[in-house]
Amino acid sequence: MEDTEYDYSHKLTLLGEAGVGKTNLILRFVDNKFEPSSKPTIGVDTKYKIITYEGRKVRIQLWDTAGQERFRATSAQSIRGVSGVVLVYDISKRETFDRIEKYVSLIADNAARDVRVLLIGNKMDLLENRNVTAEEGRKFADAHGYFFVETSALTNEGNCVEKAFDMLLKETVKDVIEREEKMEREALERERGSSILIKPPKKAAEKKCC
Ligand code: GTP
Ligand code: MG
Repeated sequence: MEDTEYDYSHKLTLLGEAGVGKTNLILRFVDNKFEPSSKPTIGVDTKYKIITYEGRKVRIQLWDTAGQERFRATSAQSIRGVSGVVLVYDISKRETFDRIEKYVSLIADNAARDVRVLLIGNKMDLLENRNVTAEEGRKFADAHGYFFVETSALTNEGNCVEKAFDMLLKETVKDVIEREEKMEREALERERGSSILIKPPKKAAEKKCC
């Protein structure tokens, strides 16, 4: 299928500290691949995937941001106008979880108020080195109204990566379609309204004779 054949287009941004696995989560989701020695992302990369939602083809544009601090301004820009953000930390690196709070502020300052957020604890294959419990992740997500899941881009056990993205996409794609359909309906109503040139005046109530 051509990349241009789709009914809706939709953008998701991935955020999180350097090395947590953002690029590999996208690689697994889009190409079902894993890169053991991936290079740090510079600025922002984009990848596309076409999914089907209730019979409609939706092109998902995935924005892969750089975790390095020097790219923070680019990351902030990349969440303007998105309907979904994926926030990633590494379950084996405590500091990547502790720093999630600063992305919460980044989202609050730059994303739309109704943006939906999925918190991912990645690298769950590194069980022996676990430094953040699943409960901590879930509690944090609940407190902020985020979805939550743990994944491994490496093993992709139980197809967890696709399931994670689907969890968010099910909601954000619905939002996008509803918003676009509402705009189409309103435009149609405006068109109809303007074609009615003069509304006949209401008949004045006839005075009853005494
Ligand atoms: P930046 O682009 O610098 O922000 O990093 P990133 O978040 O994109 O991380 P990336 O996907 O490049 O992964 C960093 C390293 O972690 C690479 O060596 C990956 O192979 C490895 N990695 C990614 N996901 C997993 C995972 O689920 N399990 C394990 N064990 N390693 C992973
Ligand atoms: Mg990267």
